[in-house]
Amino acid sequence: MACTWESLVEECNACTRCALCETRTNVVVGRGCPHAPILFVGEGPGRQEDEQGLPFVGQAGGLLDLACEGLGFATDDYYIANVVKCRPPENRTPFEEECTACLGFLRAQFSLIKPRIVVCLGNVPLHYLIDKNARITQARGQWVQRKGVWFTATYHPAALLRDESKKLDFWKDLRAVREKLQDIQNGGV
Ligand code: URA
Repeated sequence: MACTWESLVEECNACTRCALCETRTNVVVGRGCPHAPILFVGEGPGRQEDEQGLPFVGQAGGLLDLACEGLGFATDDYYIANVVKCRPPENRTPFEEECTACLGFLRAQFSLIKPRIVVCLGNVPLHYLIDKNARITQARGQWVQRKGVWFTATYHPAALLRDESKKLDFWKDLRAVREKLQDIQNGGV
């Protein structure tokens, strides 16, 4: 697997490991600071992301950026990636074989970024990165530490567009992420 950003992007762009390569416009690798302490992981690109080749640039991404800005995260604090790097047709949930085919790329991003905190946005990253049997409604806001990295989960920002009542918990979870980052930077955890 790729060991530099250049080779990773090259491998992603040439990838034919699953059928999503047949319908993509662009591979969506990620955006943000390449050595950020926080890695947000979403599900997979939507239409706008596929068109622009960048994650979370649509309405859901606007909400994520707004929350990060409102809570005082610096743009250098985070990197955003997805479990799958190519858009599933009609924005369906990616199939298990698509996720497993793509996870090596996320692992490579993990090795390059070396985040201290990983935030799973919704059920798909929660299942692949924390607990395959968990449900986001129960698991959100909880923390687990593995090999010195803190993992947590919150709602996918698209869920807030469907159900505004989730916004408060989303903000609460991201506030806890900011506090965890401050603890880490102060040498606390
Ligand atoms: N939803 C995701 O999970 N990822 C994106 O990049 C955009 C929307």
